[in-house]
Amino acid sequence: MRQKITVIGAGNVGATCAQRAAEKELADVVLVDVVEGLPQGKGLDLSEARPIESHDAAVAGANDYEATAGSDIIIVTAGIARKPGMSRDDLIKTNAGIVDTVVRAAAAASPEAVIIIVSNPLDAMCHVALKASGFPSARVIGMAGVLDSARFRYFIAEALDVSVENTHAFVLGGHGDTMVPLPRFSTVAGIPITELMDPDQIQALCERTANGGAEIVGLLKTGSAFYAPASAAVQMADAILKDKKKILPCAAYLQGQYGYNDLYIGVPVKLGAGGVVDIIEIDLTAEEKAALDHSADAVRGLVKDLDKLGY
Ligand code: APR
Repeated sequence: MRQKITVIGAGNVGATCAQRAAEKELADVVLVDVVEGLPQGKGLDLSEARPIESHDAAVAGANDYEATAGSDIIIVTAGIARKPGMSRDDLIKTNAGIVDTVVRAAAAASPEAVIIIVSNPLDAMCHVALKASGFPSARVIGMAGVLDSARFRYFIAEALDVSVENTHAFVLGGHGDTMVPLPRFSTVAGIPITELMDPDQIQALCERTANGGAEIVGLLKTGSAFYAPASAAVQMADAILKDKKKILPCAAYLQGQYGYNDLYIGVPVKLGAGGVVDIIEIDLTAEEKAALDHSADAVRGLVKDLDKLGY
């Protein structure tokens, strides 16, 4: 029997997650949305593409959680997307209510699942999901660093005119303007980019990475990025379902690591069966640690806002 992924929210990110996961034949997929007909329609459309795409992963749609029972992975994309000029943080109130509701229902139907949060503001929504699910923190993970580092990798590949496959990049911290790209650990065919580009060029790429989400919002005008976010969430699901023990930057719940307690923030995580297998601690320079501290403060501010809202 194939494994099962629940994708909550059948909008841009959710439907693209369903498409990517099904086309990789990673798992059967159940799409859930509050809008009647939307997940069913997209599920049927994706199923009708199966003969052409040559896969047998089922894609079903539902407005409740019955069909999601026993899922191995729950990807949460429900919420409102950012509008131009709106920061991720403006989203907190609406999306906290939505994430709390959907995670309670989905976790009850699939008590052994690993939850991957995509809804923004990401780090804050991970806190909401941890509480709402009652799951151990190893099974509640946020998708941010994989996306942010994919953006950084693309910009590096474009700047140096090399294959994206030759690039590796690390972005730590919260999924916001304070994120911390780490050029020292970003490489092309194993060569640190600090040996290949001048500091101004690297700085420009880091800034473009930190503003990567806003750049797309500005272009699209209605809605936010979804192709790359969906790729990132499905790569995390793949690592977990196949127990790959793949090290990816993810939002993980820190309890002492990097000097932070009870806080979700982006760090290198080993992903495998059961979610977070390990959190990798790397030595940071004083400057990198100061930037991560600044990012952690921004996340703490959001967690305080959540407290005030009762989450
Ligand atoms: N239960 C299920 N689905 C819900 C609920 C709910 N309680 N509330 C909203 N949704 C659904 C909406 O009906 C919509 O179809 O979530 C979907 C969101 O889809 P889009 O508006 O297309 O937004 P999308 O671009 O997919 O972004 C979703 O991911 O990247 C983040 O910032 C982004 O928080 C946003 C989320």
